[in-house]
Amino acid sequence: MPALVLLGAQWGDEGKGKATDLLGGSVDYVVRYQGGNNAGHTVVVGDQKYALHLLPSGILSPGCTPVIGNGVVVDPSVLFSELNGLNERGVDTSKLLISGNAHIITPYNVTVDKVTERFLGKRKIGTTGRGIGPTYADKINRVGIRIQDLYDESILTQKVEAALDGKNQLLTKVFNRRAIEVEKVVEELLGYADRLKPYVADTVLVLNQALEQDKVVLFEGGQGTLLDIDHGTYPFVTSSNPTAGGACTGSGVGPTKISRVIGILKAYTTRVGSGPFPTELFDEDGEALRRIGGERGVTTGRDRRCGWFDAVIARYATRVNGLTDFFLTKLDVLTGWDEIPVCVAYEIDGRRVEELPYSQTDFHHAKPVYEYLPGWSEDITQAKTFADLPKNAQNYVKALEEMSGAPISAIGVGPGRDETIEVNSFL
Ligand code: IMP
Repeated sequence: MPALVLLGAQWGDEGKGKATDLLGGSVDYVVRYQGGNNAGHTVVVGDQKYALHLLPSGILSPGCTPVIGNGVVVDPSVLFSELNGLNERGVDTSKLLISGNAHIITPYNVTVDKVTERFLGKRKIGTTGRGIGPTYADKINRVGIRIQDLYDESILTQKVEAALDGKNQLLTKVFNRRAIEVEKVVEELLGYADRLKPYVADTVLVLNQALEQDKVVLFEGGQGTLLDIDHGTYPFVTSSNPTAGGACTGSGVGPTKISRVIGILKAYTTRVGSGPFPTELFDEDGEALRRIGGERGVTTGRDRRCGWFDAVIARYATRVNGLTDFFLTKLDVLTGWDEIPVCVAYEIDGRRVEELPYSQTDFHHAKPVYEYLPGWSEDITQAKTFADLPKNAQNYVKALEEMSGAPISAIGVGPGRDETIEVNSFL
């Protein structure tokens, strides 16, 4: 019963789509367990580039069943446009399964996300504006709308009424906006019901039965460890649990079934949105990482903040996720530097600190303590084995492995499916 979790070890955008897609051919189910269309996965297959936001990357692998688990929040209009886009390019999407318990991102959740961010001004989180936070807030407040509610009009109407009661007060009296009409929302949501119907399933049962039959199930995290609502840099986080535990709650598969947890780790660090980032660069090196690494958000088109590799964060990711190994991505982006700084610890108010501080104040004050590793100038994109890498690139990888606390099983040396060095098999 091989159940693997693949998740971001930093602030997201580590190249998870490529890693998942790479395994896709040998995987029976690829499951998203949290987040929504705030995620952005780029997958390059041959000369085709696909940008996925909500759908699991497994949708591109024939033979693989893509699953949207109960922990995901679904915007049906985005789902349909993503499905349409793939169908137009000849991708078969008929195997998709969606949990009836997944919550729906309603139009008013998107409105509240945008209005709240504007209201926060310079204290804003820098959300993707997709309604993610307000939808999870409704779920926790027990006024959320689930996919299954679309098939009982009377229940749906009652639930939308309950959700809008308080929100309309807020929208009209605090945010000075127009109230949202229950009927219009219900009508829009009901309009999605028929097309969604064939995909809706008891995904908990399906996945557990698959594992009993020794099928390979891959859980694909959106965002990253440091954006986790519990374990990330709160409040500058997303509203779900990308960390490994989220794979269980967001899918209904128990922790004893998970056999491997792989952290996707970029060879340097990036972050989108607000919040502390100790190794962030504001100079030409940061600009070069952004340019060479193509560090622009797949979902929002925003430039990503860029910085050197942070081993403190990698160690933390190993711990909170119980990582068994890492997939190191984008090593090729670092080609050309004489020496590459790596953050090995922080200096916080004059003290050297080896582990991520639990205090938000301390983390905001953290300054990186760097070690400088020798760089390489040879093109590494053709490397097929670890031995093909220049010595200094090998040493960089080995140093990262030692500092991060888990073995590196694969190394990405280019964006293509085949531009990967597999050190150990994942399956
Ligand atoms: P939200 O998920 O839209 O609520 O945004 C909360 C924070 O998470 C913001 O800083 C976003 O930029 C960040 N975020 C959300 N999704 C991603 C992602 O897929 N990659 C990187 N950052 C993300």
